[in-house]
Amino acid sequence: MNAPAKTEDFAIKIPDGVYAETVLSVEHYTDHLFRFRMTRPAGFRFRSGEFAMIGLMVGEKPIYRAYSIASPAWDEELEFFSIKVPDGPLTSHLQAIKPGDTVLMRKKPTGTLVLDALTPGRRLYMFSTGTGIAPFASLIRDPETYEKFEEVILTHTCRDVAELKYGFDLVEEIRNHEFLNEIVGDKLKHYATVTREDYPSKGRITTLIENGKLFADLGVPALDPAIDRGMICGSSAMLKDTKELLEKAGLNEGANNKPAEFVIERAFVG
Ligand code: A2P
Repeated sequence: MNAPAKTEDFAIKIPDGVYAETVLSVEHYTDHLFRFRMTRPAGFRFRSGEFAMIGLMVGEKPIYRAYSIASPAWDEELEFFSIKVPDGPLTSHLQAIKPGDTVLMRKKPTGTLVLDALTPGRRLYMFSTGTGIAPFASLIRDPETYEKFEEVILTHTCRDVAELKYGFDLVEEIRNHEFLNEIVGDKLKHYATVTREDYPSKGRITTLIENGKLFADLGVPALDPAIDRGMICGSSAMLKDTKELLEKAGLNEGANNKPAEFVIERAFVG
């Protein structure tokens, strides 16, 4: 495995349209999950919920993968939440980064999990599995989310309890943040479940929507297209199944140029 390069090793090779940023911190959660924070380029603008192409020089060439930006638009640093794939072309190298290393980022962020792609509503559901929580980590730390919605429900489903830690840390961070906690108040609900380990809260989110347990546990009525809005981020199979349930409840899929009741984005791997 190649060690991640330092900026000076390849400064002259950085292509146009790419930032070279410095890793500030790395936190490993499990054998296959970690997060890192890096410097944010002056002038880099994005909307909370968008993704960017993140890369490393591996040997002579850069390798990029799409990563949701997990930090909110106002943050001075950038945060990413990643899986570690043993043979992954990027993550096998990215998992070894240390503070001070250089990470590449293409200049143009994009994505559909943005508040602008939803029509006005009262309650916003964010359905995530695994690292699909990343874009929502950004959105639940953005005051605009709470200006637009009276209630924000973040669901996060993982195979094991250890994989839920990033989400719990995130919510605790909000609670300990003087300014954000005041804005968020009791509007944010975090609903975490696991599917392959004993835990008080168990089951796929699709099952819990279908059998109504999600709504019963939260004390809210069933999905209503007049009030409820949704964002979905997970594996292709999870997106497909969750989308079908939202459509069955009468919600329509939207996009940046055509806002509607819900939007979806693949949780990127690699
Ligand atoms: P399960 O353990 O029953 O497969 P993965 O790591 O495979 O992406 O899974 C992350 C989480 O998403 C797991 O809890 C998994 O449940 C769940 N999941 C996988 N496929 C679907 C699906 N089609 N709909 C809803 N949840 C899913």
